[in-house]
Amino acid sequence: MGPCPFALPLPMSFDLVLFGGTGDLAWRKLMPALFQAFRHGTLPPGGRIVGVARDALSDAQYRDLIRQRFEHVELAKRPSPEEFERFAGLLHFQRMDLSKPGDYAALAARLRERNAGTVVLYLATAPQLFTTVVEQLAAAGLNTPATRIVLEKPLGHDLASNRAINETVCRAFGERQVFRIDHYLGKPAVQNLFALRFGNALFEPLWRRETIANIQVTIAEDLGVEKRGGFYDGTGALRDMVQNHALQLLCALAMEPPISADADAIRDEKLKVLRSLRPWTAETLGAHAIRGQYGAGAVRGMSVAGYREEAGVAPDSCTETYVALRAEVANWRWAGVPFYIRTGKRLAARDAHIVVNFRPAPHAIFRTPLSASNQLVIHLQPRDGLELHLLAQGQENRRQVQSLTPVHLNLDFDQRFGAERVGAYERLLLDVIDGRLNLFVRSDEQEAAWRWVEPLLEAWKAGGDTGLRPYAAGSWGPSAASAMIARDGFCWSEEQ
Ligand code: BG6
Repeated sequence: MGPCPFALPLPMSFDLVLFGGTGDLAWRKLMPALFQAFRHGTLPPGGRIVGVARDALSDAQYRDLIRQRFEHVELAKRPSPEEFERFAGLLHFQRMDLSKPGDYAALAARLRERNAGTVVLYLATAPQLFTTVVEQLAAAGLNTPATRIVLEKPLGHDLASNRAINETVCRAFGERQVFRIDHYLGKPAVQNLFALRFGNALFEPLWRRETIANIQVTIAEDLGVEKRGGFYDGTGALRDMVQNHALQLLCALAMEPPISADADAIRDEKLKVLRSLRPWTAETLGAHAIRGQYGAGAVRGMSVAGYREEAGVAPDSCTETYVALRAEVANWRWAGVPFYIRTGKRLAARDAHIVVNFRPAPHAIFRTPLSASNQLVIHLQPRDGLELHLLAQGQENRRQVQSLTPVHLNLDFDQRFGAERVGAYERLLLDVIDGRLNLFVRSDEQEAAWRWVEPLLEAWKAGGDTGLRPYAAGSWGPSAASAMIARDGFCWSEEQ
C-alpha cells in the first residue's frame, strides 16, 4: 500500500522506532521497560514498536528473538507466554542499512501508511552514527511535527563533538522535539529529590551555605566494565558518569526553586548551576580531582581481575575507572560549600547516595560525639529512602545527662511505596510518548557540563598515567580521595 496523503493522524496512536533494535540497550533496558509499561496498562493503546537493524529479520523472527531474550529477565519482570503473545502484537521489524538513503525512504513510507499521532525515533545506536542518522532522517522527511527524537548518552566525546551533534539535531528538529536521555533523572529516588526540595518547605531555609558544611554525591558500582571494555576504555568514568549522571544530581541539589514544573523552568535553573561551577585552575586540577583505576581484588568474596586484564581494554590503558572531585558552585547560596562527587567501578558495594552534612551547633552546651552533626542522607540505590541524623539524649549512661547520642529518622520509600515502582526507562519512555520534557536534558545544559569537564579531560590525557592512582577492586577507591576531603576537615560517609 502506498502513502495515503489524506489520512488523519490517529490521536492516541504512536509508532516507536528503535534504531539499534537488536542492540544491547534494546535488549537490556528498553524492551523490558516497554513490557513493564504494557503490563501496567500505561502504554497508550494503539502503539507499534518497530525495531530497526541491519539483520534480515521478519516481524515473526524479531518477536522470537525478543521472546528468547525475555527468558533471561528476572522472574518477576518476565512475561507469561500469554502476556508475551499480546505484547508481541506490538512488535515489528524494519531492516535498514543506516548509510543508505533508500532505507530511510522505505521507513518513511511505512510510517506514513499508518500516520500515527506520535512518532518516536529512538537512537539507541553507536553515538558516532547520530549525525548521519539525523541528517538522513531529515532528508527523508522523517522530522515532521509529530516526531520526537530520543538520543542516548554519550552525546559526544567532548565539547566540540557534542556541539556538532546538537547543531545537526537542532537543524532538523525543534528543541522541544528532542529528548536527551540521562536515565538517572528517571529513577524514582531522583524524582523524590526534586519532591523533597520543591514539594516541602521544611528544608528550603536550611538549604544554603549558612547551614550546610558540605554535600557528598557517591555513585559506587561493584561491577567492573563487564562486556563493554572496548567502549569503556575509550570513555572513562569522567565521561561515562560524571559529565551526565553526577552533574545532573548536583544540579538537582544546588538549583534554585524553579518558577513552575514546566520543563524549561526546571532546565533554566539546572543550567545556572552548571554555569556557576567554579572553573578548573592549574592548582585545583591537581588538588581537587583524583582519578583511579582498579587492579585485581575481591568483590563480595570473589576474586576479580584488574581493569587492564578486562576484555577489550588495552594492557597499558590509562583510562580512569574512578573519579573523585571537589566542586564549588560559585553563587550567593553556595559560595564556599564544597560539593564532593565520586564514582567508580569495582568499588566495595553498589551504593548511590547523597549526604548533606549540616554545620554543627554554633555553641556546645552538650557533650556530643566528635563527628556528630546533623546529616541528611538521601539513598538512591539499591535502597531508596531518606535518613535524617539527629542527636538525642538517650540517657544510656544514667549519670552523664549531658551526653548526646546520634539517632536516625528513617524513611524507606521501597517499603512505603512498594519496590515495584516505575523503573527509570519505563518512566522516560512513557514521558517521551506523552511529550513531557521535564526529565530530559537540554542542549545548553549538556554543553555547559562538557565545558566544565573539558579541562580535566585534557589534563588527564596529557598526564598519561601520572596521577592515575591504582585501587584494589572491592575497596572504596584510592586513598588520595580520602586525603582530598580530609584536607577540608571532612570524610566520606563510610569513614565516619
Ligand atoms: C550508564 C553507564 O550510563 O550508567 C554505565 O554507561 C553504568 O557504565 C550505568 O554502569 C549505571 O547505571 P545504574 O542505573 O545501574 O546506576
